[in-house]
Amino acid sequence: MKKILVTGANGQLGRCIQDAAADFPDLEFVFVSKETLDIENTALLKDFFKKKNFSHCINTAAYTNVENAEREPEKAFAINAEAVKNLAEVCKAKDIVLLHISTDYIFDGKKQTPYLETDTTNPINVYGASKLKGEKYIEEICTKYFIFRTSWLYSQYGHNFLKTILKYAEEGKPLTITTEQTGTPTNANDLAKALLQVVAQDSTDYGVYHYSNYGETTWFGFAQEILRQVEKLKDANLAKTNHYRTFAARPAYSVLDNTNAQNKLKLKYIDWQESLKSVLKKTVNNL
Ligand SMILES: NC(=O)c1ccc[n+]([C@@H]2O[C@H](COP(=O)([O-])OP(=O)(O)OC[C@H]3O[C@@H](n4cnc5c(N)ncnc54)[C@H](OP(=O)(O)O)[C@@H]3O)[C@@H](O)[C@H]2O)c1
Repeated sequence: MKKILVTGANGQLGRCIQDAAADFPDLEFVFVSKETLDIENTALLKDFFKKKNFSHCINTAAYTNVENAEREPEKAFAINAEAVKNLAEVCKAKDIVLLHISTDYIFDGKKQTPYLETDTTNPINVYGASKLKGEKYIEEICTKYFIFRTSWLYSQYGHNFLKTILKYAEEGKPLTITTEQTGTPTNANDLAKALLQVVAQDSTDYGVYHYSNYGETTWFGFAQEILRQVEKLKDANLAKTNHYRTFAARPAYSVLDNTNAQNKLKLKYIDWQESLKSVLKKTVNNL
């Protein structure tokens, strides 16, 4: 039986994987949060793996605060790059298939058509640079690995754009949202299922893949669609801006081309508006 270790299990994606696990009764899971397995702690990591056997490790642990990463780059690199290196080394040593999550922010956003896995990377913020370094370590160290670059993750769990929009709209607060970036909102539940499908089907087409939902929009467009789908919030006070200042620079365009994930890994490409519906059902009462 395949035995899968999921790190960072209390995060947004980790919790979605915990839910998705119910649909994969043939897989055995061990879910560990930062409290049980801090991936930055090399000695702990080595000891943990020494005592247990896993066929796969899904690493969802990460430093994900894009704004704070600019203020504490050492911390971002320690988790997103150096800890990932350690994880890659233990996986390699124990012949464990590593599934790791990366980001659209490894691109500079200057392209105007969806990014391919082979496109040149050029992160424009610390978070993106730290995630790219993590990718590079895995590619150098491991042979059995999947790196899934995803974008604009949201779900019923944790802090994310969807939940912020719903909260502000329910409180009647004005929402001024940027049109300056174009990307694809991705339901973390879809990514969770995709990851488990790759494990379950014994895929051996290792490498870097793009996995997001299908289509593209701006953050303003995402907010507009959320409010359109929630009848009781349709009159919320939503306005657009093209001057939204943030500490971290963000790519103006970061849509990912998922063709390889569809063709090689047989993963479904799900329309982002359709997928939003399923998360809203889990998030909003009396939808
Ligand atoms: N969220 C997005 O929009 C987005 C977009 C593209 C790619 N991604 C990538 O997708 C993956 C999942 O993201 P997510 O949205 O699920 O992020 P998340 O909700 O922030 O979850 C990350 C989890 O990792 C934990 N963690 C942090 N440092 C750790 C350490 N040293 N050891 C073990 N666990 C640690 C965090 O715990 P604490 O909260 O206690 O620190 C948190 O539970 C990440 O690799 C992220 O880079 C995310």
